[in-house]
Amino acid sequence: MKANVGSLLAVASAACAVPSLDAPACSVGTGTVQYNKAMPDPVSFPKTQVDVCYDDTSIHLTFTALEEKDFYYNDTLSTNDPIWAYEVMEAFIYHGTNDPQSYLEFEVSPNNVTFQAWIYNPSKVRATGAPWDTSYLTDPLTDGLTAETTLDRDANSWISKATIPLGLFNVDVGEAKGTKWRMNFFRTVESEETYPNQLLGAWSPTNASNFHMTPFFGNVNFV
Ligand SMILES: *[C@@H]1O[C@H](CO)[C@@H](O)[C@H](O)[C@H]1NC(C)=O
Ligand SMILES: *[C@@H]1O[C@H](CO)[C@@H](O)[C@H](O)[C@H]1NC(C)=O
Ligand SMILES: *[C@@H]1O[C@H](CO)[C@@H](O)[C@H](O)[C@H]1NC(C)=O
Repeated sequence: MKANVGSLLAVASAACAVPSLDAPACSVGTGTVQYNKAMPDPVSFPKTQVDVCYDDTSIHLTFTALEEKDFYYNDTLSTNDPIWAYEVMEAFIYHGTNDPQSYLEFEVSPNNVTFQAWIYNPSKVRATGAPWDTSYLTDPLTDGLTAETTLDRDANSWISKATIPLGLFNVDVGEAKGTKWRMNFFRTVESEETYPNQLLGAWSPTNASNFHMTPFFGNVNFV
């Protein structure tokens, strides 16, 4: 008996305990997550919110960065450039329930530049020496992958409203209700003074300074 209990506990602790979110159709409302802790050390982090909902054709994500001091971006960078080296908000998205090897990485910067690529990360944790590949989506506006970003410097906030086509994930028009996803949401905090060092924050914090750890992706259910 004791041995059985022990092995069950070992199995349970091997999997990461991740948060879950129910997100409704946008006509009904949104599912909302908030975080204010950095990762991997849970020191204080500017408050960040993501609102999630879906319609017939798209996932809608509203990223809200509060307590923003620097609005730090590099204005020479454009679509699919390494905006992640500055301040961004991000979503990693996978349609399915297992820890993915391949997922969409979407990012937006305070000056409304977006990064969108499929990541191939078969080690699931970006292990040193393991394959790692990036396939960019090169025509995001035509695809329907868009962002609308507004800065409010007086209120120390910036908001970006993103649309991500469901078709990228083979969810046909009108078929999103009931689908199950793994996602994580991130924000980087940085200034001219701290560059290239970033404070990292996540909805589901990982155990390293590494966003690309899919066992930590949260569960998102489109209800
Ligand atoms: C901004 O990006 C350009 C192009 O990559 C680079 O040459 C420049 O050093 C960057 N500026 C800063 C402040 O990081
Ligand atoms: C941001 O980029 C989108 C395309 O992704 C565009 O539709 C929008 O007008 C741009 N500007 C702002 C301020 O959001
Ligand atoms: C971090 O999490 C990964 C994925 O679950 C795990 O393989 C690894 O052992 C963990 N590392 C530490 C230092 O806990």
